[in-house]
Amino acid sequence: MSKTPEKQPGDPNTTGHTWDGIEEFDNPMPRWWLWTFYATIFWAVIYTIMYPAWPLVQSATAGVTGWSSRGEAQQELVAFQEANAPWNARLVETPLEDISKDPELQQYAVNAGGAVFRTWCAQCHGSGAQGAPGFPNLLDDAWLWGGSLEDIETTVAYGIRNEESDDARYSEMPAFGEILERDEITQVVQYVMSLTNAQTDDAAAQAGKVVFEDNCAACHGEDGTGDVFQGAPNLTDAIWLYGGSQEAVTQTVLNSRFGVMPAWENRLSDAQIRAVTAYVHQLGGGQ
Ligand code: HEC
Ligand code: HEC
Repeated sequence: MSKTPEKQPGDPNTTGHTWDGIEEFDNPMPRWWLWTFYATIFWAVIYTIMYPAWPLVQSATAGVTGWSSRGEAQQELVAFQEANAPWNARLVETPLEDISKDPELQQYAVNAGGAVFRTWCAQCHGSGAQGAPGFPNLLDDAWLWGGSLEDIETTVAYGIRNEESDDARYSEMPAFGEILERDEITQVVQYVMSLTNAQTDDAAAQAGKVVFEDNCAACHGEDGTGDVFQGAPNLTDAIWLYGGSQEAVTQTVLNSRFGVMPAWENRLSDAQIRAVTAYVHQLGGGQ
């Protein structure tokens, strides 16, 4: 171990700490460092007075400026709403069929409607409106209740078979398990499947035609193409709401289905309903 060098005259005092023979000088802090340090303390005090800072039990000290990140977001929201207000007013004033004649308004409606759709409709109809078993695909041109702008607006505003709106679309397919004999069910299922050439038993399908005419044609039509006034699906287009397998069709006929869609008239503004109507209509299947 080397010897600790002697202290030279003019050296600062040492603190008295020694490590492996190295002594620590007792130099004062550099000025610039000290002033920076004081400045940060000063800044911290001013900051906690001006802005929300100290946590309290329920919230935090508000700060004299009254600024908050939540308030700022709120202001931005209000600014957006104000910017959109004239558009929304135009959307409500313009007859539905004329919206698409004004490309700017149509563009606004489709953008705003897309946002409404992703927030309120996608959980049932799918993020791309492609649907799922029991929830119709809104991209195709097969419509249960009609695909005109007006039809879609009515469906969206009042919903289907819900208890919220007196104007909800309503119809009810009976559960034929309690009405028909078991072999009549088998036959009519074969007949329904024959409409899309999927029957497995030609004789049963033949017999099922009669059962269909007596029990089903009133809603689904003599030819099985459905009826938009009753929301009765077209059974000839191979587009299935609940599935076209023998098992699925048998389930539908035995127990019936009762698809429910909520009403939006009290949840969304008129402008939002019109926007999402325009959005759904332009997805591809609009009539
Ligand atoms: C809770 C699930 C649910 C939500 C949320 C929902 N729907 Fe529906 N929607 C349904 C069901 C179920 C049907 C089919 C009902 C039937 O069998 O007739 C339907 C049917 C429709 C139809 C009629 C389709 C046709 O073929 O005639 C349209 C249009 C529609 N929905 C649009 C929307 C829009 C727009 C929204 C959002 C504002 C929305 N839906 C939100 C469940 C939902
Ligand atoms: C009172 C009218 C009515 C009668 C009568 C009726 N249906 Fe329906 N049917 C409907 C409605 C409405 C739906 C749609 C139900 C839903 O969305 O919940 C439907 C749905 C169906 C479906 C499902 C279609 C799909 O895309 O998944 C089948 C299959 C079907 N009916 C067959 C029959 C058969 C077979 C009979 C006769 C034994 C019959 N229906 C009688 C109104 C009726």
